[in-house]
Amino acid sequence: MNLPNMLEAKKRDKNAVIDNYKYKEVKIDDSLIGKKFFVRTYGCQMNEHDGERVKGVLSSQGLILTEIMDEADIIILNTCAIRENAHDKVFGFMGLIKKMKETRPNLLMGICGCMAQEESVVNEIRSKYKYVDFIFGTHNLDSMISVINERVRSGKQNVEVYSVLGNVCEGIPESRDSKYSAWVDIILGCDKFCTYCIVPYTRGTQRSRRYEDIIEEVKGLKELGYKEVTLLGQNVNAYGKDLYKDYDLSNLLRDVSNTGIERIRFVTSHPWDFTDEMIKVISECDNVMPYVHLPIQSGSDRILKLMGRRYTKDEYIELYNKIRSRIKGVSVTTDIIVGFPGETEEDFQCTLDVVNECKFDGAFTFVFSPRENTPAAKLVDDTQVEVKNERLHILNEVVNKYSLEANQKCVGEVHKCLVLGKSEKDETKYMGYTEHMKLVNIVSEDDIIGKIVDVRIEEAKSFSLNGTRI
Ligand code: 5AD
Ligand code: SF4
Repeated sequence: MNLPNMLEAKKRDKNAVIDNYKYKEVKIDDSLIGKKFFVRTYGCQMNEHDGERVKGVLSSQGLILTEIMDEADIIILNTCAIRENAHDKVFGFMGLIKKMKETRPNLLMGICGCMAQEESVVNEIRSKYKYVDFIFGTHNLDSMISVINERVRSGKQNVEVYSVLGNVCEGIPESRDSKYSAWVDIILGCDKFCTYCIVPYTRGTQRSRRYEDIIEEVKGLKELGYKEVTLLGQNVNAYGKDLYKDYDLSNLLRDVSNTGIERIRFVTSHPWDFTDEMIKVISECDNVMPYVHLPIQSGSDRILKLMGRRYTKDEYIELYNKIRSRIKGVSVTTDIIVGFPGETEEDFQCTLDVVNECKFDGAFTFVFSPRENTPAAKLVDDTQVEVKNERLHILNEVVNKYSLEANQKCVGEVHKCLVLGKSEKDETKYMGYTEHMKLVNIVSEDDIIGKIVDVRIEEAKSFSLNGTRI
C-alpha cells in the first residue's frame, strides 16, 4: 500500500537525477491468463497514450482486450483530473460497475490515471468505494501487474500510488489504437505550476525522454507503416531543458523530420518556451505539420498574472503573429478559461478582444474549475455560476464564428488528408485530417484508409469540412 500525497507531489528537486530504466516484465497471476479486460480512458492525448500502455501490458500477459464492458473480467478506468466534470463522470461510471459486481463477484475493477494521484479521491475511494479492487498512479503504470497480483493474492483493495519525482520507464508494451497515427511521449510532467492546474501534481516533475529513444521509436513506427507521429507533452516546448544544454524541441523536430516519417505533429505548446528557432524548423521541414496549439487562457493581463502564465496579452499576440506570418498555411488553436476567480466583465471583454484580434482556427473553452491543492482554488471566487456560463456561451459564439470563417477559406482548395477511418457520422464517408489539422469527411469510391490523399474541399462547417477525393 502506498498512498498519494499532494504536498510531496508539489516538491521539485533541481539536483535530483531522473532514473531512466527499461520496463521489467512481471508475470500475471495464473488465474487471470486468458481473461477479458476493458479499459475506459478519459482526458488528454497523454492519457489516451497511457491507456494504450494499459492495454499493451495486459495483452502482453495473455489477457484479451474486449470493447464490450459486460463481458470483461477486469475493468480499468484510466481517469482525468483536470476539471470537476471529469471527476463526476468517473464516479458516475463507478456506480454502474458496482451494480455489475453484485451479480459477478469475481469481476475486478481498477483505477489509474490522474485521479489516482489525488489524495482526496483515493481517501474517498478507500472509505466509501471499497469495491474498487486496485489503484495505481501515473508514475507506476509499469508496475500495474504487480499491483493486480497483490490484489488477487491478498483479496484486499490494493493502492500503489507514488507522488515523488517520477522516473522515465522505456519500453512499456503498447497496444496502439491506430495503425496510421501514433502518439509519442517526449516530455512527461510539468513544472510550470499555472495556479489553476492540477497537472504538475498528478504528472510530476518535468522530465524529457532521451532524444535517441524518441528517434528510435519514430523509426520503428515508420517501419511498421505509421504515417504520422504526434509528439506529446504538457509543454513540448520545454523539451530537453531538464536534460541537455544545447538540445531543445527545434533540434528534436529536425531529427524526427530526418527519419522521413510523413507527418509530425506536436502538442501542447506553452507560449513562454516558444523560440524563433522552433518557428523556423516548423516552417522549413515539410513533414512538420503547420499546426500549433497555443493556449492563451485569458486576454486580461491581470488574470494572466493571477494564473501565473508568465506572459502578457501583447507578448502572446507578438508570438502569435510571428507564427502566423512565418509558417505558411499554419492554423492555430487555443485554450481559454472563463470565470477564473475575480474575473470581471472588463477582464472577460479583454478575452473577447483577443479572440477578435487573433481569429483562431479553433478554441477549446472551459469554465474555471477549482482543483485540489492548487493556489487558484484558494482565491475568492464571487462570480455567479450563471454569469460564468453566460460568458462561456458568448465566447463560444465568437470562437465558432472564426472557426467557420477559417474553414470557409478552404472551400475550393485541394488539401492532402491523412485518412484515419470511416466517418463517425456517416459510414459511407471517410474521415481524415488536412496538414493544418482540419477534420474532413471525405467521399471516395476506393478504400483510402491509412493513405494520404488529395481532397477537394466543397463545404465548410464550424468543426469540420466536407470534400471529395480527387
Ligand atoms: N479549470 C478549467 N479549465 C482548466 N484547464 C486546466 N485546468 C483547468 C481548471 N482548473 C484547461 C486549460 C488547459 C486545458 C487542457 O484545460 O485551458 O489548457
Ligand atoms: Fe486530464 Fe491533465 Fe491528467 Fe491529461 S494530464 S489526464 S488533461 S489531468
